[in-house]
Amino acid sequence: MSAVDKTLDYCYAHTTPVSASLLAVERATHLRTLSPQMLSGPYQGMLLHFISQMIRPVRALEIGTFTGYTTICIAQGMPEDGILHTIEVNDELGWLIRTHLQDAGVDHKVRLHLGDAAQVIPGLEETFDLVFLDAGKLDYARHYELALAKTRSGGFLLADNVLWDGKVAGGDEKDETARVLRGFNDFVQQDPRVENILLPIRDGIMVMRKL
Ligand SMILES: C[S@@+](CC[C@H](N)C(=O)[O-])C[C@H]1O[C@@H](n2cnc3c(N)ncnc32)[C@H](O)[C@@H]1O
Repeated sequence: MSAVDKTLDYCYAHTTPVSASLLAVERATHLRTLSPQMLSGPYQGMLLHFISQMIRPVRALEIGTFTGYTTICIAQGMPEDGILHTIEVNDELGWLIRTHLQDAGVDHKVRLHLGDAAQVIPGLEETFDLVFLDAGKLDYARHYELALAKTRSGGFLLADNVLWDGKVAGGDEKDETARVLRGFNDFVQQDPRVENILLPIRDGIMVMRKL
């Protein structure tokens, strides 16, 4: 095992485990979906839970619900009167998502929108304190613009998977997603509307704060 892997294992072993309801979502996602690897998992889930606890967003937006794992992580950190809008284009996941939100006891804080984020976001009459981008990677630039327009000054946006399995920093030109994400990261880096920090956690999380 490499020193990096040993260090990561040590970090995982010294992080509070996720709740039983999240373990159940992880199990159900493996049993009932064809792409369980899309799930963020316990370490990143705990990070989102902490970020949400620290910001205490009253209004939050998630783009890319999948089976509701990160929806639950974010919602658990929100105040009781907080509302998390979450958008999922695959309407076949609706039943599973709703079941998971109810089982985790966060359904009263979540508004699930089944549809294409680019169509849904313009219709949301909200100003967000926290946004989590985790839908199609090729659409990040568009989702970022739409979400930034509805984020308050001082609010935070997080974009997942921006290192794309090492291919972004590694300069892989053949992988289209890596190329597009490299363009996205470069755009954010020079965008005067935000300050940003790229965290090398799991598949890379770009954290942005709207100025
Ligand atoms: C990586 S998964 C989200 C994982 C989830 N945030 C988690 O960690 O548990 C991405 C999800 O975005 C959805 N998606 C892709 N394009 C979308 C779009 N344009 N609008 C809304 N959802 C989209 C996919 O169907 C998929 O369920």
